[in-house]
Amino acid sequence: MSRMDWLYGRNVVLTGCSTGMGKEVLLILVKKYGCNVMGVARNKAKLDELKAELGDKFSYRRFNISSQEEWRNFAKELDDMGFNTDILINNAGMIQPFGQFNDMTDDQIDKIIKTNLLSVVYGCKAMIPAIKKSKFGYVCNVASASAILPFGGESIYSATKAAVWGLTECLAQELRGFNIGVSCVMPGPVKTDIYKAREGEGTAPKADKMVQSVGITAQTAGKRIVKAIGKGKLRFFTDFMAQLMSLGMRMMPRITPKFSGSIMKKSAGMVSSFMPIYKEQFDRKAELKAAKKERKTLKKHSIEEVKEGFFAKDDVTNI
Ligand SMILES: NC(=O)c1ccc[n+]([C@@H]2O[C@H](COP(=O)([O-])OP(=O)(O)OC[C@H]3O[C@@H](n4cnc5c(N)ncnc54)[C@H](OP(=O)(O)O)[C@@H]3O)[C@@H](O)[C@H]2O)c1
Repeated sequence: MSRMDWLYGRNVVLTGCSTGMGKEVLLILVKKYGCNVMGVARNKAKLDELKAELGDKFSYRRFNISSQEEWRNFAKELDDMGFNTDILINNAGMIQPFGQFNDMTDDQIDKIIKTNLLSVVYGCKAMIPAIKKSKFGYVCNVASASAILPFGGESIYSATKAAVWGLTECLAQELRGFNIGVSCVMPGPVKTDIYKAREGEGTAPKADKMVQSVGITAQTAGKRIVKAIGKGKLRFFTDFMAQLMSLGMRMMPRITPKFSGSIMKKSAGMVSSFMPIYKEQFDRKAELKAAKKERKTLKKHSIEEVKEGFFAKDDVTNI
């Protein structure tokens, strides 16, 4: 008997199963645990290849996880066909082009929020009613270590992953009464194609090279994700880097983000994709130093002086 045994033969819905960590999770669940996996992704060629390899234990649906309507239709279809979902794994996601928040287009922001956050919200909303009927209910959401330690240049990505973390922690409390286990998986760097898929930048290969040197493989991450689910770990860091990030934020919450930011700034000369984040800090170094000094030496203004300033007297009084 092992704590993982309950996984055998479970019915699983897994998003992002066509490649990366999701694919590895799929292979383990089907080959090792004999699970029936209903995968969700869009790349038909990759999904067909997996279907040919895995046979009857695997089926897939192609839809965009950002659409609530697609999720609702999917849940209904599973219900109609008698596929009683035990486990939902919201793994699919994307990263953002490295750069400053204000340089991102509205469409880019919208797409990342929909793909990384709303998809998880819609997936949980659509699938949890069915999971509540299972004796082996489980929900696993894949966030990121950057939910805990965010990096400049990845503002919207980090925001979505922090929100997924928050959502998952709340679900864990709320679903206890239905005997549904919950995991939030926080990977650090993992060697997958996600970095190559960064939109609109010619600098991806450099950032990708860095991940290649410090990241764990998708196979290792996949194994650990399955283990986290099997053992019912609520908060799970897949690798040393993610553990280190979490430890830093717990032990030194003020110093750690400053430290990681300064490492990135120092590496900006070598990793050109970091440069857009720090460009002004390099270009305006003297100006910024002078402005900082000026702020420090500004004399204290009296309320009378402020009233005489930009705002009308009435506005100031109203504040
Ligand atoms: N790799 C890392 O270093 C890292 C670190 C921390 C967290 N994560 C998180 O871990 C998860 C998996 O990442 P990964 O590195 O394995 O990514 P990946 O190799 O790029 O795979 C992403 C998967 O998501 C699917 N997908 C993406 N957008 C979709 C959409 N709109 N609708 C349906 N399917 C969609 C893709 O399928 P199709 O292309 O077939 O649609 C693919 O199967 C993501 O949530 C990611 O944010 C990754």
